[in-house]
Amino acid sequence: MRVLGIETSCDETAASVVALDGRAAPKILSNIVLSQIEEHAAFGGVVPEIAARAHVEALDGIVEAALADSGVALDEVDAIAATAGPGLVGGLIVGLMTAKAIAAAADKPLLAINHLEGHALTARLTDGLDFPYLLLLVSGGHTQIVAVRGVGDYQRWATTIDDALGEAFDKTAKMLGLPYPGGPNVEKAAATGNPGRFAFPRPMKGSAQPDFSFSGLKTAVRQAATAIAPLSDQDVADICASFQAAVADALGDRVSRALNRFRQEYPDKAKPALVVAGGVAANRTIKATLEALCAAAGFDFIAPPQKLCTDNAAMIAWAGIERLRAGMADANAADFVPRSRWPLDSVSAPMVGSGRRGAKA
Ligand code: KG4
Ligand code: ZN
Repeated sequence: MRVLGIETSCDETAASVVALDGRAAPKILSNIVLSQIEEHAAFGGVVPEIAARAHVEALDGIVEAALADSGVALDEVDAIAATAGPGLVGGLIVGLMTAKAIAAAADKPLLAINHLEGHALTARLTDGLDFPYLLLLVSGGHTQIVAVRGVGDYQRWATTIDDALGEAFDKTAKMLGLPYPGGPNVEKAAATGNPGRFAFPRPMKGSAQPDFSFSGLKTAVRQAATAIAPLSDQDVADICASFQAAVADALGDRVSRALNRFRQEYPDKAKPALVVAGGVAANRTIKATLEALCAAAGFDFIAPPQKLCTDNAAMIAWAGIERLRAGMADANAADFVPRSRWPLDSVSAPMVGSGRRGAKA
């Protein structure tokens, strides 16, 4: 089985071919990701209109490159899978329409894939993980804990009630005058900072409600920065380190709650696992916190390679393969309309007030 995947939901234009032959491990035959970071950097964040135009310009070439790299001709592909939501609607339209056109011209089935499902199933592509497992998705647009129970069977156990975690990193960076994207720069500055200098809040820590919140932390950072302005490099480093410590602590509290719930709901699962996905999973302090939590709770900690944790099309192609082999191909995909919002779990109520980008989830 070979599937061509296309991803354009945010600021990466990506295409990939993934193959599955019998019982052998799946193979990523090509995985091309063009980041638009430079186009958006001057604005300190992703500008939807610029993103959509950049996708239009790049996508044809990226698809061609993904096919060429894979050594698979278009007529040897079994299906075309494209992200159909959630995300920025301009980019989704570009990717899904392109996929529809390719599928129609090559007479191949089309799969309209939920971007979050791509993240959720990646650990099966990289690590052959069995259902059920727990997923922590921490990116610029999403902060969720999801019980991954099967293909198309997801239960959201926690989400953010305001900002996504990556968004909190990006906004903190902006406040402190660090360049976009903020996460890696906050981490870099934090390396030389004192995490104990500022006692920032640990939002939701100990709360009976399972969700995340980061806007109060962001406000606390702003107040601390304003109080001691102008900021020296050491002040910036100390704020970053203290912010990161607060985030790791708050996140650890929420995750450990979910690990306990997983144990209770799946007592027979011999080797439970926590999988991380999303750009924030690159953060070493956060990773170390999660690793320690998992070790203490007897969970495997699975962090797929960074290239497959952040937005990419291999995860979309793989989700397509999972759907095809589960007999879940959608005969009406050619009529599918891109969805800027598309919860992975249609049962859990959407979170009222979830932040500008967080609301995607
Ligand atoms: O998954 P991703 O590449 O794109 C989407 O948001 O979909 O995640 C990007 C987010 C940004 O908010 C970025 O600041 C954050 O991940 N990020 C980090 C780090 N690297 C990227 N946050 C904290 N520490 C990092 N090292
Ligand atoms: Zn993503």
